Amino acid sequence: MDPMLPRPFRVIRAKAEIAGTATVDLAPVDGPAPAFAPGQFNMLYAFGVGEIPVSISGDAGRTGIITHTTRSVGLTSAAIVALKEGDMVGLRGPFGSSWPVAAAKGRHALFVAGGLGLAPLRPAIYHVLTNRADYAGLTVIYGARAPDEVLYETELNDWRKRPDMRVEVTVDHARPGWTGRVGVVTTLIPRALAGVDPSRVEAYICGPEIMMRFTVQTLEGLGIGSDRCWISMERSMKCAVGFCGHCQFGGDFVCKDGPVFRHDRVAARIGVKEL
Ligand SMILES: Cc1cc2nc3c(=O)[nH]c(=O)nc-3n(C[C@H](O)[C@H](O)[C@H](O)COP(=O)(O)OP(=O)(O)OC[C@H]3O[C@@H](n4cnc5c(N)ncnc54)[C@H](O)[C@@H]3O)c2cc1C
Ligand code: FES
Repeated sequence: MDPMLPRPFRVIRAKAEIAGTATVDLAPVDGPAPAFAPGQFNMLYAFGVGEIPVSISGDAGRTGIITHTTRSVGLTSAAIVALKEGDMVGLRGPFGSSWPVAAAKGRHALFVAGGLGLAPLRPAIYHVLTNRADYAGLTVIYGARAPDEVLYETELNDWRKRPDMRVEVTVDHARPGWTGRVGVVTTLIPRALAGVDPSRVEAYICGPEIMMRFTVQTLEGLGIGSDRCWISMERSMKCAVGFCGHCQFGGDFVCKDGPVFRHDRVAARIGVKEL
């Protein structure tokens, strides 16, 4: 199949999330849905508007459906967020590297997400939950700017009730009525990992670059080396197949070598604007 040719997908469910953000379930109309690995992304084409990279946010074990959560920041993402049940969208993919959770059996899986960064991590969390007996532990730490910006809040609350995982949620700025934690995600990490052997932790981190940088710093302070920290990078894209150079990130292309990178391999480049 030509990786440059979008396939037609129909929206079979559209759900409003936090403000300006929506999740769509997509089903192909011309054949089976492609398999994907947690962390990979698709190029979504809003007909007549444009094409953008969006991470897959659904369960890789649920065949036939591809789920995306998108925030409206410009014309194309706004068109994706506005999609309704029955609408059509073009899709190419999946592309890129993935969270290496399947290779981390026997380890403690730590997920640290900021803002919309929970969306690209969610398929990896589903993978660990589906295969929970294979992992020593599972911790999810999530930070949002404000209580009304907590993504997938119902699901986070459901996860919190499970005895086989630990979930911590914090907001940068509380509002009246918020009874949860306040402060940046890094403040929660030491407490959330109390009693966990740091040598067994494998960390998957997604959010703004500054949040990922400080998270890795905190983890390193706890003895979790950056060679055991995985992050997902965002750069603007055009081809998504390592052709056009739009997503160049030092010696790597984010579309093909990423978006998931081992932190120590890209640490020097994070936060450097021209890269
Ligand atoms: C691998 C990958 C995975 C992604 N996954 C998701 C996802 O799951 N959900 C989601 O909502 N978005 C995701 N994005 C970001 C998404 O691709 C951009 O928001 C989108 O390209 C913006 O296009 P636009 O035409 O709507 O806005 P534009 O007109 O291109 O941009 C509008 C504004 O948003 C800023 N902007 C553009 N791209 C980005 C970006 N990548 N990060 C931050 N700011 C940006 C621009 O600087 C500008 O200020 C991902 C990006 C990459 C590279
Ligand atoms: S988007 Fe063209 S090389 Fe990555």
